[in-house]
Amino acid sequence: MSNIVCSSVDKSYGAINVIKDFNLDVADQKFIVFLGPSGCGKSTLLRMIAGLEEISGGTVSIGGTTVNDLEPGERGVAMVF
Ligand SMILES: Nc1ncnc2c1ncn2[C@@H]1O[C@H](COP(=O)(O)OP(=O)(O)OP(=O)(O)O)[C@@H](O)[C@H]1O
Ligand SMILES: [Mg+2]
Repeated sequence: MSNIVCSSVDKSYGAINVIKDFNLDVADQKFIVFLGPSGCGKSTLLRMIAGLEEISGGTVSIGGTTVNDLEPGERGVAMVF
């Protein structure tokens, strides 16, 4: 897996902001777990990284490439529910 960086990521559904100014830097080969209460935005964040959900603000990069506008299949990642 490549380095994944989230910089000032925001997500809004209409006027409702559900993720605000999220920052994360996961180095290559690292294993990371997201923990948080129901509704805090874990699935939404993973969906934005995978390209299944539009990013409202900020940038997501994978392996040094900004992927905000790339289709899921162009990102080299997958998600299993
Ligand atoms: N399609 C949507 N439209 C509007 N609001 C949404 C949508 N999807 C998620 N939300 C809202 O975004 C917030 C984050 O939801 P999300 O599903 O990412 O939380 P979660 O941390 O994965 O929760 P859980 O632990 O229950 O899976 C919640 O307030 C949720 O109601
Ligand atoms: Mg979830």
